[in-house]
Amino acid sequence: MTEDLDTLRDHLLGAIPAADSAEALEALRVEALGKQGSITQALKTLGKMTPEQRQSEGPRINGLREAVATAIATRKAALDRAALDARLASETRDMTLPADAPIAGTVHPVSQVMDELAEIFADLGFAVATGPEIEDDWHNFTALNIPETHPARAMHDTFYFPDGAAGTGEAPRMLLRTHTSPVQIRTMLDQPPPIRIIAPGRTYRSDSDATHTPMFHQVEGLVIDKGITLGHLKWTLETFLKAFFERDDIVLRLRPSYFPFTEPSAEVDVGYTIEKGKRVIGGSGGGWMEVLGSGMVHPKVIAACGLDPAVWQGFAFGCGIDRLAMLKYGMDDLRAFFDGDIRWLKHYGFSSLDVPTLSGGVGA
Ligand code: DAH
Repeated sequence: MTEDLDTLRDHLLGAIPAADSAEALEALRVEALGKQGSITQALKTLGKMTPEQRQSEGPRINGLREAVATAIATRKAALDRAALDARLASETRDMTLPADAPIAGTVHPVSQVMDELAEIFADLGFAVATGPEIEDDWHNFTALNIPETHPARAMHDTFYFPDGAAGTGEAPRMLLRTHTSPVQIRTMLDQPPPIRIIAPGRTYRSDSDATHTPMFHQVEGLVIDKGITLGHLKWTLETFLKAFFERDDIVLRLRPSYFPFTEPSAEVDVGYTIEKGKRVIGGSGGGWMEVLGSGMVHPKVIAACGLDPAVWQGFAFGCGIDRLAMLKYGMDDLRAFFDGDIRWLKHYGFSSLDVPTLSGGVGA
């Protein structure tokens, strides 16, 4: 027995480090530690031994078992490492070589629609304005005639920053802007009228389902001048939507509504028809779809920005960009917009070389 164990030890501890593949190593493991393995069998002999024999043989057999298990683990790690090295070596790629197939990214539909909007409104004399996504309470709400106690605040599902310094008179309470409307305020404070701007950008609300994501995109429009009327608003929106949907048969319906920052306020629906079982914007035989909120800028908002509402009037509108993209390009789940799935982007994305122009067609 003693010699047998020594022979076994020499054999196994010699063969294991020399095993040249995972399969060879596994065969040795089964040979030694498997159900019928030599060490397993040796352990079974312990039961038939005298207590004295067991006392001397037990530690030897168990010691061998441990030594063999350790040797197998060590060899396995070395083989795994070698296999990984071989894989890494065979899969190297020379990034300086020219691509044999064009690796082109695509323009996300949201970026595409933003470019289309900028192009359409630039043609109408609008500049693009921006504002911070981390806003303070005053620009996002108070200056827009939504005071602290206003129910509209609850409807906005606002993400507030934790310091909660509201009402302390110290640092202003910060939040993620819930709409692009604060850019109206920043623009009026920044530059003298006349003003014609659109402000596309990210907005945030604590909301999530097939048509709402916590981050989404809006575009704000603002015109401040003398003698501005609802007629200017309607014409502008009609001209915009015709250019955007690239159809002349766009029909708008202005429904009286309420927003704290406009008076009067109107929600704008666009008519659709059913073609081959699908809703297509244009005409109104199929029904109406709400596309944006708008109105004449409230005198209080104009005054909050230091302008005299008796002299200056204007209109404003706000519109969901993601929704515009869905309506124009036919996606039905908003959440997919932000999954970053390359297959979705390949399908719905746009060529970066196809810049929207009014003459070439804004729809790419
Ligand atoms: N800010 C509004 C919202 O997010 C949308 C809106 C409505 C903007 C009317 C406007 C407006 O400028 O006049 O729900």
